[in-house]
Amino acid sequence: MAKNVVIVGAQWGDEGKGKVVDILTGYADVVVRFQGGNNAGHTVIVGKEKIVLHLIPSGILHKGVKCVIGDGVVIDPECLLEEIETLKEKGKFNPEDLLISKDAHLIMPYHKKLDAAKERLRGNSKIGTTGRGIGPAYEDKVSRSGLRCADLLDREIFRAKLETNLREKNHYIETILEEEGFDLEKLFNDYMGYAEAIKDHITDTSLFLDRSMNEGKSILFEGAQGTLLDIDHGTYPYVTSSNTVAGEAATGSGVGPSTLDEIVGVSKAYTTRVGEGPFPTEHDEEQNAALREEGEEYGATTGRPRRCGWLDGVALRYAKRVNGLTAIVLTKLDILDNFSEIKICTAYKIGEQLIEDFPTEASILSKCTPVFETLPGWKSPTSDIRDFDSLPENAKKYVKRVEEIVGVSSILVSVGAARDEAIMVRNPFS
Ligand code: IMP
Repeated sequence: MAKNVVIVGAQWGDEGKGKVVDILTGYADVVVRFQGGNNAGHTVIVGKEKIVLHLIPSGILHKGVKCVIGDGVVIDPECLLEEIETLKEKGKFNPEDLLISKDAHLIMPYHKKLDAAKERLRGNSKIGTTGRGIGPAYEDKVSRSGLRCADLLDREIFRAKLETNLREKNHYIETILEEEGFDLEKLFNDYMGYAEAIKDHITDTSLFLDRSMNEGKSILFEGAQGTLLDIDHGTYPYVTSSNTVAGEAATGSGVGPSTLDEIVGVSKAYTTRVGEGPFPTEHDEEQNAALREEGEEYGATTGRPRRCGWLDGVALRYAKRVNGLTAIVLTKLDILDNFSEIKICTAYKIGEQLIEDFPTEASILSKCTPVFETLPGWKSPTSDIRDFDSLPENAKKYVKRVEEIVGVSSILVSVGAARDEAIMVRNPFS
């Protein structure tokens, strides 16, 4: 029976969703990206090749699987074309498999300039954005002045909207920021060039998804970033500019919420965060280095070193609540193979006050100190293990304890970077 499965990050992004999506795509007919843009970065290892995708769903690596970029995504066409080129070079691109929502908004060069300028102006309270223009592009979407993929298909409309936008943007850039503005003709010609290259992919993807469902196809909805970076439910203002929670799978792709059968939250076996903002289980520099080196914790998009810490059970319970998780996936369990003790945060404390429910206010969260439970490590390699029962006893206990704290079972445990280094406990598509 066909199923619709949503994959979301249960932490601050970088949970290893790319690999999970890659594995589960093997059972899906269609994969949909529904929010974010090229601030995301999914690294997928296929054979000996490492492929990093920022915008195109990693499902594109599976022949015959349709990949949809939904209306909730913001698209930088220059980045999109670069990815298409890379995929073509590797013989992994079938043009018919990529569909782009006509309603998805475009990232423009002025969005990138404004992203950088806003960060500069924030000074010490900067967010640590990826600098890809994501926030300003969503700002224009909400202020109803954004340019959408459909606009690319009509030169007159595109030009008129661009002209109106540039008037306002250039005024701000030139008079407030005292920097050089953008030239209408150049931008127009650049974007008409992009339009020519991607026009055949632009379509009504909501309609396509509806038809696919009616034909009994299984759909995988691929979330980017993570729950705690959600614009409404994350650690505001240290968040991204889109809704990253499972509800956005519906609005960001134009399907009804009742069509979603299963919601899977992906979490590392520990926690990482890039960018600024509170992080209660964050390690000190020495411990940080151990996890960062073992886990190669450097951002796929910006190369920035990630902040690391033990697993935060309070945050995961929150992710279960705001996403309505029906299952979890634990990734990078093997990174904990060499630790003699492993900690899980089960609650926070502010002074003597015990806090069991995740506070999203940055001012409160930054005062929280973790209450840890310590479990013995397993001190043996797990990367070659392919069934749950064969894991070392202490590794099984760790996974079971995480499930107990969060309140849902795991369907997959990842034990290495390669596609086959994973233990499938339950297939959500079957
Ligand atoms: P923006 O999405 O570029 O506006 O950045 C806002 C915040 O979200 C920053 O802290 C970024 O580091 C973080 N962020 C955005 N995309 C990702 C991601 O894919 N993984 C992890 N963090 C991300």
